[in-house]
Amino acid sequence: MNDKLTTNEGQPWADNNHSQTAGTRGPILMQDYQLLEKLAHFNRERIPERVVHAKGAGAKGTFTLTKDMSAYTKADVFNGAGKTTPILLRFSQVAGESGYPDTLRDVRGFALRFYTQEGNYDVVGNNTPVFFVNDPLKFPDFIHSQKRDPATHLRSQEMQWDFWSHSPESVHQVTYLMGDRGNPASYRNMNGYGSHTFKWVNAKGKQFWVKYHFLSEQGVKNMTDETAAKVASEDTDFLLHDLYDAIDRGDYPKWKVCVQILPYQEGLDYKDDIFDVTKVVSKKDYPRIEIGEFVLDTNPTNYFDDVEEAAFSPANFVPGIEPSPDKLLQGRLFGYKDAERYRLGANYEQLPINRPVNEVHNYERDGFMSQGQDGSVNYEPNSKGGPVEDNDARMHGDAVQGQTEYSRPYDKDYYSAAGRLYRLMSPEEKDRLIQTIKNTLGSVDDQEIQVLETRQFYQADPDYGQRVADALGLSMDQIK
Ligand code: HEM
Repeated sequence: MNDKLTTNEGQPWADNNHSQTAGTRGPILMQDYQLLEKLAHFNRERIPERVVHAKGAGAKGTFTLTKDMSAYTKADVFNGAGKTTPILLRFSQVAGESGYPDTLRDVRGFALRFYTQEGNYDVVGNNTPVFFVNDPLKFPDFIHSQKRDPATHLRSQEMQWDFWSHSPESVHQVTYLMGDRGNPASYRNMNGYGSHTFKWVNAKGKQFWVKYHFLSEQGVKNMTDETAAKVASEDTDFLLHDLYDAIDRGDYPKWKVCVQILPYQEGLDYKDDIFDVTKVVSKKDYPRIEIGEFVLDTNPTNYFDDVEEAAFSPANFVPGIEPSPDKLLQGRLFGYKDAERYRLGANYEQLPINRPVNEVHNYERDGFMSQGQDGSVNYEPNSKGGPVEDNDARMHGDAVQGQTEYSRPYDKDYYSAAGRLYRLMSPEEKDRLIQTIKNTLGSVDDQEIQVLETRQFYQADPDYGQRVADALGLSMDQIK
């Protein structure tokens, strides 16, 4: 037998199809509280979508550690081969709104949460190992150029290329984005990267630098622009569908978890600045070490509760894992939790999907929608036996020198890394890259933007620049 309908206060709900009226043809009555509540609640169904990465798909699963990493980090999640940890993964696009077609070219988000015994640990990465900018001050402008034109409310190739052509540190990531990986065939067919360099610290206090790589066991597969456009017109939720359907039929996607580990001083002395997120650390210099695997085997039971209300943050570390001085990362440590307080409210960490598996004890209290509080002491220091500091969780210091200043660029060589990526591409991939740049940069009316950007490609690799110039009908005199 079906359950009986009730209001949110648990009172029996008599009629869900007919409002109360003053007589058969008369107006509706104020006393119809169920009607008023239903309309009022409906008006409050929408919350602000994520300011970036608004469209996404999530699933739950398990991470299994296959290699004990206690020599490098004391983080419980990476200590003791065979240990399993529940996870949540949310894939996303960056620029489009929540209803935007899934298959249009964009970087894809790869946000991974480990529900560890020491609290939530999040790696909020992308499907590319680098990023467009390396100073957080530039992030809002970069995103504005990706979003809609303030006058027309249309997305604009000119805005994107204008920003990139004046931000040469972007050329490595732009080359990724315009290449085949700018359009994954599915979320299951893409790798994830932590992108930044992070710090690992072992139980003896020894520090290392680490980079995360999550390698798809389904293989990396991409979609051509032609297929992507066709799919976009047939199924705007193609990537969401694909992930949900695969898990639903028991075809659980898996990723290998690998790390590159750099000894502390070697990392500081590395040929490229390891804190510059526009660069990678060569796999030849520091090979990837496989440390485990995760599987996604559980679809959300309620999308809003399990995915929309998920609040990932690069600031969610556990003891043994710490931020590096990467400037972009440092900016992100503030950005996410601030966005989530706005998007979900001051007590978003109490929402079921964001609650850690271990108990929470601190002196923070109250606020909108707070729940489950007891009468325990709410100040420190106290003589009431309240929770005490855990000094084992203290962060480890790095030496600093110099004086306060407006930060200088990491490096003037924005180009070599992009050139190496270009030269790694097969002839067919290079052809597709040039075609994609032609289709997008070529549609920009302002020739100065085309010239500035093509100069960047030329500095990355002369062949790259020459081919773009030819495709756009620019003369090499304008470029060199
Ligand atoms: C989402 C800010 C750079 C990956 C977000 C959100 C904000 C944000 C405010 C929405 C959070 C929410 O409402 O829950 C920033 C800032 C950046 C930056 C200020 C630079 C200063 C990056 C980089 C990456 C990245 C470098 C990847 C390497 C993501 C992902 C999400 C996201 C994957 C979606 C998380 C989810 O699935 O809920 N970002 N971001 N972001 N960002 Fe960033």
